[in-house]
Amino acid sequence: MNAQFNLMEKIQKLKREKKAVILAHNYQRPEIQDIADFVGDSLELSLCAAQTDAKIIVFCGVNFMAETAAVLNFDKKVLIPDRNALCPMASMLPAELVRLYKRKYPKAKIVLYINSLAEAKAYCDAVCTSANAAEIVNRMDSEVALFGPDVNLARYAQMKTGKKIIPMPRYGFCPVHKLFNKNSIIRLRQAYPDAEVMAHPECDPSIWEVADFVGSTSRMYGRALASKANGFIVATEVGLLHRLKKDKSEAIFIPAYEEAICVNMKLHTLEKVYLCLRDEKYKIRLPPKIISKAREPIEFMLKIRETQR
Ligand code: 13P
Ligand code: SF4
Repeated sequence: MNAQFNLMEKIQKLKREKKAVILAHNYQRPEIQDIADFVGDSLELSLCAAQTDAKIIVFCGVNFMAETAAVLNFDKKVLIPDRNALCPMASMLPAELVRLYKRKYPKAKIVLYINSLAEAKAYCDAVCTSANAAEIVNRMDSEVALFGPDVNLARYAQMKTGKKIIPMPRYGFCPVHKLFNKNSIIRLRQAYPDAEVMAHPECDPSIWEVADFVGSTSRMYGRALASKANGFIVATEVGLLHRLKKDKSEAIFIPAYEEAICVNMKLHTLEKVYLCLRDEKYKIRLPPKIISKAREPIEFMLKIRETQR
């Protein structure tokens, strides 16, 4: 415990000296969330990265999140504590595949989930997150949209917009959200009859059917804080429970599946955050051409959010 406290002190000191900011996703380890300047979902973290005046951004999340911050901040250092923190779903959609679909459906607009590689984003019309997928699809001046890589979010956007959505690849998925099972959630509901069920749209549609609320990680957080209920069954990666328990300590939070752990998100540790700040490693590097092509669809999404404030 003392060693952890010392490490936290050292991180705070380095952060002040180097004018750095630490951004952490809702799935990060509790101690990383506690040391971060901001904790949030992909949309909030992108907004934070776009607005910060810090010289260094330490991004505790997976690669596509840090890459998005780098695309928005070509004049700043964007660092990731462990460069092996990759999102397997993002890797399911190589840029070549986006080009192939684009040739096949030349009239369709392309909306990419933020969980995609920067090279793939360079070919899309707009980027979205789980918090605004339907809204972004609705903004496209076309009745057909190519959407990837998550097939479940594609289905979700189709359900909410009524537009024709063509998923690419056909079966892109998150290996963590695939773990939830409808029957075990029904059993949990029977055990906790007063609890609300909250689910991420990356889950299979059969899970949304038994949920009271479907939304991004921060939307689930907001829903729990605003709700009168005192029990919640949470169908997303278990990291979100730290924030929920901390900020609504009177309620109980039950993971819909306690083994729903994103190993990539958990690669960052306090020790690695310290080394990242001390040695200014690992810097996110992207080719300038990719940066300039990927910036527009990301900024399109952020501008929509800004106009709603
Ligand atoms: P959120 O944007 O909802 O935080 O989701 C990110 C993610 O990777 C979900 O698996
Ligand atoms: Fe990617 Fe799934 Fe991990 Fe989110 S939880 S970062 S989608 S593997």
